[in-house]
Amino acid sequence: MGPLQHLRVKQIRFTARVLGCVEEFSGGNRLIRTMAHARLTAPILNAMLGYQRVFDDLPQAVAAANPYSSGGHDAMEAGALHLRLSKSPRPSDYAVFYHIQNLVSGWSKIFDLGGNVGNLFYCYNRYLNFPPSLVWQVYDLPKWTDEGRRLAEEHGEKRLQFTRNWEDASGADLLLVSGALHFFDPPVYHMVAELPEKPIHLLINRSPLIAGPTKAAVQDNDNLRTARVLHNRAELIAAFEAIGYELMDSWQAAELAFKIIGKPEFSAPSYSGLYFRLKPQA
Ligand SMILES: C[S@@+](CC[C@H](N)C(=O)[O-])C[C@H]1O[C@@H](n2cnc3c(N)ncnc32)[C@H](O)[C@@H]1O
Repeated sequence: MGPLQHLRVKQIRFTARVLGCVEEFSGGNRLIRTMAHARLTAPILNAMLGYQRVFDDLPQAVAAANPYSSGGHDAMEAGALHLRLSKSPRPSDYAVFYHIQNLVSGWSKIFDLGGNVGNLFYCYNRYLNFPPSLVWQVYDLPKWTDEGRRLAEEHGEKRLQFTRNWEDASGADLLLVSGALHFFDPPVYHMVAELPEKPIHLLINRSPLIAGPTKAAVQDNDNLRTARVLHNRAELIAAFEAIGYELMDSWQAAELAFKIIGKPEFSAPSYSGLYFRLKPQA
């Protein structure tokens, strides 16, 4: 990023902070909400908030984030961050532990979509002691699959494998989509529908699901800005049900939140987790 982009990021963050403070005051919430929706003030607010607003789809949000993304998902600090974060489980990981702890000993394969360098494998294995025969296969960007292979070799870890082929998810016992559902376009339910054999269990964790219609936005994290889909919760669940899954459980991933100024319908006070199981064929 050049100096102009740095300045713009500072201005956007300052504006968001000020408006966020106004929202805290009595009546402020309504004022900002009105400004965010009124025909005259909404474009001004949008211009001041730059990438920190709602977009119709992921490509639009990606285009808004790109000048400020500092490499986005490919940034080296993103990999280091995931490894650091998974040194110990985050609160929402315990919901995943709960659902897989009694099943995993009978499984052959977990497919980890957006699994970075396999950070969750290392973290979960410390708690669940995976069987030697289990394959944990990660799908991610080439930079992370290459780095993940190198790390797995360094650790002598044969259970952890990497792929760039989505079809390898076919027939997996579990498809795990942790912190990643919102990065895929076309959406993951379309990807799953195309698999010759759908995974039996499907765990989605740490995704920003919203009450309003599905849109896209940009998360502003330290030095990284990444575009994401904000899925409408009911629509997402219905889409997985339509391809044969049954919702078994849901939880809040309270360690993460996402806010759009003046638009609570597009905000997620906490991220979400969902557990689906493939319904037996009649
Ligand atoms: C927030 S991280 C989640 C890491 C890990 N699953 C966890 O929960 O800690 C999101 C991951 O999705 C990956 N990702 C984003 N877009 C992707 C794409 N189009 N194809 C493959 N991986 C992608 C990123 O590289 C990153 O590793």
